[in-house]
Amino acid sequence: MLDFQAVVPSIPYILKGIGVTLQIVIGATILGMVLGILLALCKIGKIKVLRLIADFYTSIFRGTPLVLQLMIIYYAIPQLFDINIDPMPAAILAFGLNSGAYISEIIRGGINAVDKGQQEASLALGIPYAKMMKDIILPQAMKNIMPSLMNEFITLNKESAIVTVIGALDIMRRAYVVGGSNYHYLEALMVAGVIYYIMTLILTFLGKKLEKRMSRSD
Ligand code: ARG
Repeated sequence: MLDFQAVVPSIPYILKGIGVTLQIVIGATILGMVLGILLALCKIGKIKVLRLIADFYTSIFRGTPLVLQLMIIYYAIPQLFDINIDPMPAAILAFGLNSGAYISEIIRGGINAVDKGQQEASLALGIPYAKMMKDIILPQAMKNIMPSLMNEFITLNKESAIVTVIGALDIMRRAYVVGGSNYHYLEALMVAGVIYYIMTLILTFLGKKLEKRMSRSD
C-alpha cells in the first residue's frame, strides 16, 4: 500500500537537497560555459593543435559515461595522488568538465550558423579577431543557441542525480535515505520525482522567457 503519510515528516529533509542539487548544477554550468566557449573557439580557430585537442576532449567526455567520469574524479584520481576531495567539488568538476564538451558543440554550431557576411564585414572594417568574436559573432550565436543551451541545463539538472553514487546529499540521495529508513521507497522516490519535475518546469519556463527577451531585439 502506498502510504504518503509515512514520508510527510521527511519531506523537509528531502527538500533540503534542492540547495545541494542547485549548487552542483550552478557550479557545473559556470564551469561548463567557460570551458564550452574556450573549446568552441579552439574548434573553429585556425590553430590545428588546439583544434585537435578540443576535438579529442569532446570525444572523450561524450564517449564515456558521466557516472564513470564522476567516479574517476572522486575515487580514482584522489587515490592515485593520495589526496582527498569532497563530494561537492568532485561533482561540480565532473559535471562541469562533462557539460563543457556538450556546450562546446552547441556553441560551435551556433557560431557557424552566424552569417559569414558578419565576419567578412568585421574583417573589412579592420576589427580585431578577439573583438569581433566577443562583440559581434558570440552575441548573435548565443541568441540562436538559447534553446539548446536550456536543454543542456535541464539535462544537467536531472543528470545531477547520479551524485548519489558518491554520497552527496542531493535530492536523489535524500529520497533514497528516507526510503531506506522507513521502507517506503516508492513514496520517497516519488517525492523526489515531483521535485525534479517542478524544477524542470521552472527551467523550461525561464528558458522560454529568456528566449523571448533575446529575440525581441530582432
Ligand atoms: N547519461 C549520459 C552519460 O552518462 C549523460 C551525459 C550528460 N549529458 C549532457 N548533456 N551533459 O553520458
